[in-house]
Amino acid sequence: MGQETLRVLISEDALQARVRELGRKIREDYGEDASITCVGVLKGSFVFMADLVRAIGGNVRCEFLGVSSYHGGTRSTGVVKITHDLQKPVEGQHCLLIEDIVDTGLTMDYLLKMLHVREPASLKVVTLLDKPTNREVGVEVQYVGFTIPDEFVVGYGLDLGELYRNLPYIAVYTP
Ligand code: PRP
Repeated sequence: MGQETLRVLISEDALQARVRELGRKIREDYGEDASITCVGVLKGSFVFMADLVRAIGGNVRCEFLGVSSYHGGTRSTGVVKITHDLQKPVEGQHCLLIEDIVDTGLTMDYLLKMLHVREPASLKVVTLLDKPTNREVGVEVQYVGFTIPDEFVVGYGLDLGELYRNLPYIAVYTP
């Protein structure tokens, strides 16, 4: 029998405090009166996004992109399939792409190129977690919650086989 363990990497309190900080900073940077179109990348970002949009406050639109990355073994291939597209045009809008984690950068690279073509007024990225160790393509990320080491993490939206997304903290999973 395997002994699976979950070790808390980022506590619920630390997450909540950082998300509030990110929200304040984002609102400050865009300006009190700015309308921000938040684009959550499903599924992983849904918990972070729910907290972040409340921390940003003011005028916020919520849109979602469903993506599925084809992983060959444990590595991402960079081929991204759009499973749910934006429901409204984002032309002329200030778009903030919301991710739970940037790992190889391949998903983000693909999504940024895809969104640029739709001519938003501006396009920025916020990710809760940044795992720079495995980066294969450079992507510009304006807001990072936490930079983490090369470990398999779950919780607060991140899954293992669709489980653990509902943990209120980020944990390192060891099989
Ligand atoms: C994760 C995460 C990013 C992507 C990052 O999604 O949410 O979209 O991988 O990896 P990359 O930088 O190596 O491209 P995942 O494929 O696990 O799907 P999920 O969000 O539905 O869990």
